[in-house]
Amino acid sequence: MCGIVAVIGSREAAPLLLEGLQRLEYRGYDSAGIATVDAAKSSLTCKRAQGKLVNLVKLVDDQGALGQLGIGHTRWATHGKPEVRNAHPHRDSSGGIAVVQNGIIENHSSLRKELESQGYEFASDTDTEVIPHLISRELNLIKREGETSNSTWLLEAVRKVSFQLEGAYALAVIWEETPEALVVAKRQTPLLIGFGEGEFLCASDTPALAGFTRTILPMEDDEVGLLTPLGIELYDSLGKRQQRSPSLLKGQEDVATKNNFRHFMLKEIYEQSETARLWTDRYLPLGLSDEAPIALPFEDSFYEGIERIQILACGTSRHAAMVGAHLLEQFAGIPTTVFYASEFRYAPPPLTSHTLTIGVTQSGETADTLAALAMEAKRRAVYGDIAFASHQLGITNRLESSITRQVPNILDIGAGIEVGVAATKTFLGQLLAFYGLTISFASRSKQCSSKEVSKLINELRSVPSQLITLIKQHDEIAEQLSQQFVDVQNVIFIGRGINYPIALEGALKLKEISYIHAEGYPAGEMKHGPIALLERRVPVISVATPGVVFDKVLSNAQEAKARDSQLIGVAPEGRATEVFDALLPIPEVSEWISPLFSVVPLQLLSYHIAANRGLDIDQPRNLAKSVTVE
Ligand code: M6R
Repeated sequence: MCGIVAVIGSREAAPLLLEGLQRLEYRGYDSAGIATVDAAKSSLTCKRAQGKLVNLVKLVDDQGALGQLGIGHTRWATHGKPEVRNAHPHRDSSGGIAVVQNGIIENHSSLRKELESQGYEFASDTDTEVIPHLISRELNLIKREGETSNSTWLLEAVRKVSFQLEGAYALAVIWEETPEALVVAKRQTPLLIGFGEGEFLCASDTPALAGFTRTILPMEDDEVGLLTPLGIELYDSLGKRQQRSPSLLKGQEDVATKNNFRHFMLKEIYEQSETARLWTDRYLPLGLSDEAPIALPFEDSFYEGIERIQILACGTSRHAAMVGAHLLEQFAGIPTTVFYASEFRYAPPPLTSHTLTIGVTQSGETADTLAALAMEAKRRAVYGDIAFASHQLGITNRLESSITRQVPNILDIGAGIEVGVAATKTFLGQLLAFYGLTISFASRSKQCSSKEVSKLINELRSVPSQLITLIKQHDEIAEQLSQQFVDVQNVIFIGRGINYPIALEGALKLKEISYIHAEGYPAGEMKHGPIALLERRVPVISVATPGVVFDKVLSNAQEAKARDSQLIGVAPEGRATEVFDALLPIPEVSEWISPLFSVVPLQLLSYHIAANRGLDIDQPRNLAKSVTVE
C-alpha cells in the first residue's frame, strides 16, 4: 500500500508529482503529500494534506511548491492515524531532508528509541520518520571533503541507512543541499525508474510512469539509485555500480475513465461481458484440436510431471482460486489445495512432490502472495525439489507487475485496468483463467472424455453474450431490491460446492463497499452454529444452481426461512424457486460454469446497497487496491 513518485528534470516537479500520485491513488487515500527543492534558493518545501489527493491538489494550488526536483506520496495508514502529522513526506529535524516510503520498517521502534536518546525529535507516529533522522545522522558522520559532491554524500548516507532498516521498503529522498539529485532505494517492495524526455522519474508502479514514459527499469532489492537530470546510477548494497538496460512497457497502462457510469465499479461490472469475450477469443479460438483444445501460452513441458496443485492468494483472488480448485479436482482430477497466502508464509504444509504452485493476484503486487511464492520456491530448492522450485505460475491482470518479474510462467487475464477497489471484472477473469487451466489439465489427464471437454468449451464460448443480458437485467433488479436493505445490519450468504466460494465473494463485496456485516457460509454448515444468528432482520442470500447439490441447498434455504429470515435466491427461474421471497434469476447453465453467472447479481446488489447509502464505492474506507504490505 502507499504509492510513491519522484521526479527530477527540467520541468516544474509539483504538477508531475500530482499527476503521478493521481495514478497511484488506488494504493491508498488516507493522506497525500509532496516535497520539492527549489534550486535557486536551495530550499525544501513540503505540502501535506489529510484524506484524498484532491485536498493536496488544492493546497498546492493555493500555496505552491517550487522546484524541478520532488517526491510525492499517497498513504494507506499502517503506523499512526491518517492525520496530517503522519502524512509523508517526513523530514529530519532541520527540515532539509525529506523522505517518502512505501513498506514497513519493522525495527522502527528500537531505531526511534536510539535516535531519541541521541536528541532527535520526532513529529509523527510513523515507522518512516526514523529514515530522515538516520540519513541526517549519517550525513553528519560522513567526512565531507575532497572532490566529492553533496549528491554522493546523500547516496552514501542512504546506502548506509539501508543496512540499519529491517522490513520491506521503497523510498525516495531529497535534500535541499542537493538540488541536482534525488536518491531512491528499495527492498521487497517495487520501485521502478522511468526514463522520460528531459527528466527521470521513479514510482511504485507503472501507471504513475506511463503518462511520462514507456521506458522503465525496475530496481532490484537492496539497490540504491542516484537520479540527476542527466541520468541514473544504480549501486548494490556494497556500493558496486550496476549496469542494466531499461525495457519498454508492454501492457496497456492508460488511465481509465468512468464514461457515463456513476462509479468505476459499476462500469467494471458491465465490462465483464467484454472481459469474457476477449478471453474466449484469445484462448478458445475456433479450430483448435481435441488434443490441444485451448490456446494457453504454455508448452507441453509445462504440464509434465504435475500431480498436485497448490494455490496461494488473498481476498477475492482466493475465492477465484477456490472455484478453480473445485474445477481442477472435480473436472480435471488434479488434487488441489488453496491457501491464504498470508497464512502459508508462516505455516506452510509439509512439502509434497510434483506440486505446481500457483499465485493468483490481479494487481500482481500483493505482498503476502509474492512473499509466499518466493518462500515456496526457496523451500523447494533447499529440499532439492529443483524442478518444482522454479515451476510456478502466476495468474494476473497486470503484465508489468512484480509477479511477472518473479514467476516464470504467467497467465494474463487481460481484463484491462480495474480502478474500483472492489474486484469484479478481474474476479471473472481469474475464474476464466482457471477454466482454461482445467481444460488443459483435463484434456491431458483423460479424466473426462473429449466430449465433456468440448461441452465445457462450447458453454464457455456462450458466456460473453449471456453476460450482456444478465448484467443489464440485474442492474435494474438489484437497484429495486436494494431498497429493502436500508436498515439491514447483517446478511448471510450461503452456497455449496462450486458456488460456496461465490457465497464468500458475495459477502466480501457487501462488506467492503457497504460496511454491512456479512458472512459467507457453506449452506450445509449453517445448522452447526451460524443458524443461531437468523431472525427476521437477517436476510439470507442463497446461491442455488442446478447440479449435484441443488436440492440440498434448497433444503438449507428452507431451514433459514423457517427462522423468519428473508430468503433471497440466486437461481434459475422456475426451478422449485417458490421457496424464495425474492429471486435473482440467472440462466440455467451447467453447474460447472454457474459461478460465472451467480456472482453477477451479488456484485450488483452490493453496488446498489452501497450507492443507496451514499458511500464512496470506488474507494471504500480503510482499503487500497494494491496491498503491498503484509
Ligand atoms: O491484487 P490481488 O488480487 O492480489 O488482491 C487481493 C485482495 O486484496 C483483493 O482481492 C481484495 O480482497 C479486493 N478488494 C476484494 O474486492
